[in-house]
Amino acid sequence: MNTQKSSLELSHFPVMLSEVIKFSSSSKGGIFLDCTFGGGGYSKALLKYSKTKVISFDRDTAVKKIAEKLEKKYPNRFKFYQLKFSQINEIIKEQVDTVIFDLGLSSIQLNNLSRGFSFKSKEKLDMKMGLSSISAQDVINNLSEKQLRLIIKILGEEKEASKIAKNIVRARADKKITKVNELVKIIEKSKKKIFSKKINPSTKTFQALRIFVNKEITELINGIVNATKLLRPGGKILIVSFHSIEDKVIKYFFTNYAKNKSNPSRYLPADSLNKNYLFENYNKKIIKPSDEELKENNPSRSAKLRFAIRSNNDFIYPSDIFEKFKKYLNVESIYV
Ligand SMILES: C[S@@+](CC[C@H](N)C(=O)[O-])C[C@H]1O[C@@H](n2cnc3c(N)ncnc32)[C@H](O)[C@@H]1O
Repeated sequence: MNTQKSSLELSHFPVMLSEVIKFSSSSKGGIFLDCTFGGGGYSKALLKYSKTKVISFDRDTAVKKIAEKLEKKYPNRFKFYQLKFSQINEIIKEQVDTVIFDLGLSSIQLNNLSRGFSFKSKEKLDMKMGLSSISAQDVINNLSEKQLRLIIKILGEEKEASKIAKNIVRARADKKITKVNELVKIIEKSKKKIFSKKINPSTKTFQALRIFVNKEITELINGIVNATKLLRPGGKILIVSFHSIEDKVIKYFFTNYAKNKSNPSRYLPADSLNKNYLFENYNKKIIKPSDEELKENNPSRSAKLRFAIRSNNDFIYPSDIFEKFKKYLNVESIYV
């Protein structure tokens, strides 16, 4: 068996790997769901423990080759599905011990300039992670100025969203915007001249488009709700996130449905308090990458790991979370 890593596998650095392995109690074994397979860094590390069974998901077809190699190596302990993680409950019918999410893009996606995620690209405006029905080019050329402003403002948290949206609409009246560098030019022209040295002026608009094209907040909320439904009592859900909207959602879910929250859901009758929490006490602790990791992999700097432990209570559907984040869900449901 060829155990050498391919250049595809080597191109993604698994963020906070030792922390994820430690907090997921992988040495004890059990059934693990790796909802964001990527370069397979987490799945491989989990499979090193002989009592683990790992089921992985990724929406990106580009990682299938890495997963197939692993399926050959561990035919009885590893299985991969090319699906969105909001769909895990269509496949998994048994209770699981641990569910892991490592959100966002892999370097495999970012560094492939033809996918259009990087502002260094001069290729087509695509930004599809996989299994998305629209591309960034569809969004940029077909939505109204108001819709573009909303997407850039709400999903990108970009202060200059109005100006950027206006200039996109103006530019596309002359010629369809098809390439990444064309959009970058429009954004740079729209932003005030004083750019931060650390943050590229296109960062927030690109974040917004990527989130919109892949419906990332809708995926995240449905993914974590479905994962919680599958967890056994005492099982763990671990999430590595990279931007503030993701962290807001995760923090709210873990905090609001924890035993130490006084009122888990305003939709529940008062006498059901303390019977319906989904998680044990949650201490809001954020785990951050070590200094050694930051020296080795600068993109880890914005990573945050949070985890929660499933309570013994039956699953209740956490409707509040959809209500709480409807601002993002509504924007993501704009029809292109
Ligand atoms: C940061 S990478 C994961 C890297 C992985 N932990 C490793 O060690 O190599 C995130 C991966 O999640 C995938 N992904 C993002 N959102 C997804 C979703 N809703 N459903 C399935 N996969 C998703 C992306 O395609 C990408 O490959």
